[in-house]
Amino acid sequence: MLSFDDVPVSNTASTSASTLESGGETATLNFAPNPVAAASVAQPVTTPVPQMVSSVSVVPAASPAVAVGAGATGFEQIEITDKRITVDEKRIINCRADLNQLVPFKYEWAWQKYLDGCANHWMPQEISMSRDIALWKDPNGLSADERTIIKRNLGFFSTADSLVANNLVLAIYRHITNPECRQYLLRQAFEEAVHTHAYQYVVESLALDEGEIFNMYREIPSIYAKDVFQLQFTQELADPNFKTGTVETDRRFLRNLIGYYVIMEGLFFYVGFVQMLSFGRQNKMTGASEQFQYIMRDESMHLNFGVDMINSIKLESPHLWTPEFQQEIIDLVKEGVELEYAYAVDTMPRGVLGLNAQMFSEYLRYVANRRLKQIGLPEQYVGAKNPFPWMSEMIDLKKEKNFFETRVIDYQTGGALSWD
Ligand SMILES: [Fe+2]
Ligand SMILES: [Fe+2]
Repeated sequence: MLSFDDVPVSNTASTSASTLESGGETATLNFAPNPVAAASVAQPVTTPVPQMVSSVSVVPAASPAVAVGAGATGFEQIEITDKRITVDEKRIINCRADLNQLVPFKYEWAWQKYLDGCANHWMPQEISMSRDIALWKDPNGLSADERTIIKRNLGFFSTADSLVANNLVLAIYRHITNPECRQYLLRQAFEEAVHTHAYQYVVESLALDEGEIFNMYREIPSIYAKDVFQLQFTQELADPNFKTGTVETDRRFLRNLIGYYVIMEGLFFYVGFVQMLSFGRQNKMTGASEQFQYIMRDESMHLNFGVDMINSIKLESPHLWTPEFQQEIIDLVKEGVELEYAYAVDTMPRGVLGLNAQMFSEYLRYVANRRLKQIGLPEQYVGAKNPFPWMSEMIDLKKEKNFFETRVIDYQTGGALSWD
């Protein structure tokens, strides 16, 4: 299972390394989050989007506006042909092959993570919040500092998961030109929706002020700073003219993947995870704590998927990974450490729950070293140790060995069922 210490640094051995030419031509969907901006841009795809099911048309070689088989979106004109897709044609980005064929698999790790994600399925309302509600209502149940931690984490995460989901659907998905990776992205997008649901569910259960929680990213400076930092990666790709296929745009895309998967989901979530799970370890707010436990397990998978995707793109396009670009990424991770530490201080100005800001300083340096190493970069914080070794254990937990024992449901569906 997943833990800080056994996450593979690279899981790309099964992928065939090949050099992708820079400047490779890609068909453009021009799928823009801003419809006004999108409408003003010339659309290279002028033919109607074909229905994917019943009718297949024979396309004269000279007729289509987009070269048949140009790949890149999955919306290309369908052609009758006896030429079948081979794994060698598949690429994470800038693929020219048909994107509507899941198999043959090239990136087995992506398919496996899709299966693992489905096996970990959970829903927020399955977790009892009754003890949390009683404790929250009790005037002496929690200290003011403890209440602040809970509210600020709900404030940060509720927006952060939304940002991640929007980036996934509106910025990343259209540029990932591989069906098995897209399959996982669809699963991940649903999980992000589940996470947002979980925060809403906790807010509703505790009868918190919705306006206060959901506006926190615009009112609390340390939360605002983290979200602004992340938006720089999304806004670049939200440009309807943006498309991969040049060294510069491929690098911008890679920067987005690292910004979201490694820094947002792999670093910015971890002060909150430690804090929220610490409540459960002290037998307080066990329902909310368990929600975060399941979220952390999902996020650990998202991170690992992102790391595999990043490392695969590096293998396929090694020219992107220059010393200058590597330094840029290192600097971003270091900036992320500072922003997350400011968040730790902001959520927890005084020591509470057996935690203090100094412990988080050490922890974030430890986590950052891990993240850098996972994407093949040198550790930046010599000797940083993990002051919360129990976190690895929490990520490792299997659903049926649920730590707080507030939930007993386990899923067994589809391929996991025995028909004997
Ligand atoms: Fe999430
Ligand atoms: Fe995530």
